[in-house]
Amino acid sequence: MTIFRRFRNTDPPALADIWNESHTARGAYPLRTPALLERWVFSKPYFDHNGLIVAVDEGSGRVQGYALTGFAPTADLAALSFEEGVICSVAVRPADRRKGVGRGLVQRCEAYLADKGARTFRAGPVWPQCPFGFGLYGGTNCPGFLASDPDADPFFRSLGYAPAGTTFVYQKKLDQPLTIADARFGLLRRRYDTQVLRAAAVASWWHDCVWGTLEPVEFRMVDKLANNIPTARAVLWELEGYGWRWGYPSAGILDIQVRPDLRRQGMAKLLVSQILRFLQDQFFGICELQAQADRPDIVALCRTTGLEQVDTGTTYTKPVPQAMQVPLVRATGLTPADAAVNAAGR
Ligand SMILES: CC(C)(COP(=O)(O)OP(=O)(O)OC[C@H]1O[C@@H](n2cnc3c(N)ncnc32)[C@H](O)[C@@H]1OP(=O)(O)O)[C@@H](O)C(=O)NCCC(=O)NCCS
Repeated sequence: MTIFRRFRNTDPPALADIWNESHTARGAYPLRTPALLERWVFSKPYFDHNGLIVAVDEGSGRVQGYALTGFAPTADLAALSFEEGVICSVAVRPADRRKGVGRGLVQRCEAYLADKGARTFRAGPVWPQCPFGFGLYGGTNCPGFLASDPDADPFFRSLGYAPAGTTFVYQKKLDQPLTIADARFGLLRRRYDTQVLRAAAVASWWHDCVWGTLEPVEFRMVDKLANNIPTARAVLWELEGYGWRWGYPSAGILDIQVRPDLRRQGMAKLLVSQILRFLQDQFFGICELQAQADRPDIVALCRTTGLEQVDTGTTYTKPVPQAMQVPLVRATGLTPADAAVNAAGR
């Protein structure tokens, strides 16, 4: 029989084994040491032992699977919003699949999230609803659960989740000459300089939490005729473990922004072409960029710069049933049970 319990400090080696047995497709890479879980999961300021559910075979004590859940941020990216719970990862050892273990894990995640005040369950982290996942799963950013992991879609649909967003994953192989030409580039180059900043500015508390110990590089275009005012930016990071999976040193572009009054002039296209050239000079073999399907501007940018779609991510949602809803305690994030314990002075 399977029992479900919260995470214990002795679990990481078993969790890394399950990860390595379960995540064999392109969207994740082998964890050669459980320390990577420390880096990308346990070190987060909001990591909660109760939000990492572990399935154990009662007879043998063998860990069969786990599910990891957390909360989305508030709109200003300055705190957690307990209204939206996010199931970030579920994995069951191949030998233990199709026996209800995955379903049991998700049900325990849902109970934990609802008890904290969730009104929506999301499955498949996507920026910014991505308390966990970045750095370990999905590549450059959090695209939801990938089509290259074919178990995820039928599994979550069978548990009542419906697709709520699509992300396209694009890549460019850099082992061939780059030929991105545009008649506007000459004019843009005369007016705008591109700078490479070794430490990208961290935009919010949530960026700091999700990106963690990452040291991204910022590419910034500045207006030479206006005191070097920034006009466009993109963040670049080395996709350390993924490169091992894909067979080439790889990097990902995040967070491309062009000042609103300067859009549709080829500036983002020029910035991406400069980043690709920079990566090629540094002997990177792959550059990845992700575009949410409801961002036609980013989708078109990927296509016009010659990136090819290699995968698709989906995020799913499900309303929390009325019977599971508890009052939301906004100020403290405490459940009524937590509050009662505090009030009793224990
Ligand atoms: C997805 C996963 C966690 C499911 O675990 P599981 O213990 O096999 O799931 P369950 O036995 O509880 O399945 C519950 C229901 O989901 C559906 N389901 C699960 N896996 C399925 C599959 N491969 N194909 C079709 N339906 C599936 C079925 O309806 C199933 O009910 P049924 O067996 O009564 O028909 C497991 O396949 C896995 O670890 N895959 C690799 C990791 C992964 O892709 N995780 C998701 C992204 S992080």
